Amino acid sequence: LLTGGALAAGGTLVGAASVAAARDGGQPLPAPKPVAVTVGAAIEPFHGERQSGIATEPQAHASFVALTLRSGVDRTTLGRMLRLLSDDAARLTQGRPALADTEPELGLLPARLTVTFGFGPGLFAAAGLDDRRPPSVADLPALPIDRLQPGWSGGDLLLQVCADDPVTVAHAQRVLVKDSRPFATVRWVQQGFRRAAGAEPGRTQRNLFGQLDGTANPKPGTPLDTAVWMPDGPDWLRDGTTLVVRRISMDLETWDLLGRTDREMAVGRRLDTGAPLTGTAEHDEPDFATLGPDGLTVIPDFSHLTRAHVTDDRFRILRRPYNYDGVPAADGTADSGLIFASYQADIATQFLPIQRRLAERDLLNEWTTPIGSAVFAVPPGCPEGGWIGQQLLD
Ligand code: HEM
Repeated sequence: LLTGGALAAGGTLVGAASVAAARDGGQPLPAPKPVAVTVGAAIEPFHGERQSGIATEPQAHASFVALTLRSGVDRTTLGRMLRLLSDDAARLTQGRPALADTEPELGLLPARLTVTFGFGPGLFAAAGLDDRRPPSVADLPALPIDRLQPGWSGGDLLLQVCADDPVTVAHAQRVLVKDSRPFATVRWVQQGFRRAAGAEPGRTQRNLFGQLDGTANPKPGTPLDTAVWMPDGPDWLRDGTTLVVRRISMDLETWDLLGRTDREMAVGRRLDTGAPLTGTAEHDEPDFATLGPDGLTVIPDFSHLTRAHVTDDRFRILRRPYNYDGVPAADGTADSGLIFASYQADIATQFLPIQRRLAERDLLNEWTTPIGSAVFAVPPGCPEGGWIGQQLLD
């Protein structure tokens, strides 16, 4: 959307012609004519077979909102709640205020807003439908690297709210939380960010260690389709997926003490280009067998790349992480990290083997600590007039 033009002040995408005119001194310049939509006006679909916010090119801002259902909420009440929240999402994502929106002007700039719903184990229990919960949608097994805090873990219903504008995210979150009040309480909220829309179009984003993060993600197309979306299984989950959210703190204080070579060895890729240590360009295939002069593999056996690498497309995961950066402590110690979010058809056969290998041995573990963890089944999308979860709850 943002290629082939320049982003003028105010976020309007103007074409090359008006930029050239601006350089042409002498004559009074005609006002530049916008030739494409602004970042604020861009729209992602809400209705469809699959929920948006998964294969969607990641927006710049995200808020992950996990709710705890109030006691007494059952299948019927859940249906009422999800009808209401789906209606809010359907309107706001298309640039229309929610029903009875108290700040309707804030609903007019969708900025590619998406609201993605995830169902935690507790939602199935509340609905009396535990037999329909995909077995791997349950707390992950305890891992030796984990220092999980209850305040960042679990959740019955997740709302992943993403947009290219932070005011849009704040308003959507406010509307959804307000409408959830009769049914649920807020368990945790994690807010994160990536590069601003249009800052580096088409480039892989960087995390707060400065690494290019997302290089080996499956691209939209065949591997993504088979690895992310449920091809079969129960009707209500077809075209759905699962989501793992992990809050992983990154120790910038000790990372900052490392030299560049050690940082690159820890992940197995170069910091500037993101190329594997055996290559020159970001998307070069890593060669895990090449030996250096010291007789050791050039890409260390315990690098993050070696340990996380997946060769069979069916077992890949779609990572859609966001950076977080809290308020530093009084002495300046950073509170930074990654809201790691991964989508996969099956947690047990795709996510868990990777996570287990990383927990067992990964050089990055020295500087990263998982402090939150939650898993969700992500139901399919809904047609116009329908609501998210209808196939399960109606
Ligand atoms: C690759 C960083 C946690 C799975 C990468 C890369 C970086 C990175 C820089 C290389 C570029 C790329 O392909 O994206 C981090 C950081 C983490 C973290 C900073 C924690 C703060 C995790 C976790 C998992 C994971 C928890 C899954 C359990 C992967 C996978 C790849 C990868 C599957 C691609 C490997 C390949 O096939 O080449 N990560 N990661 N990462 N990471 Fe992580």
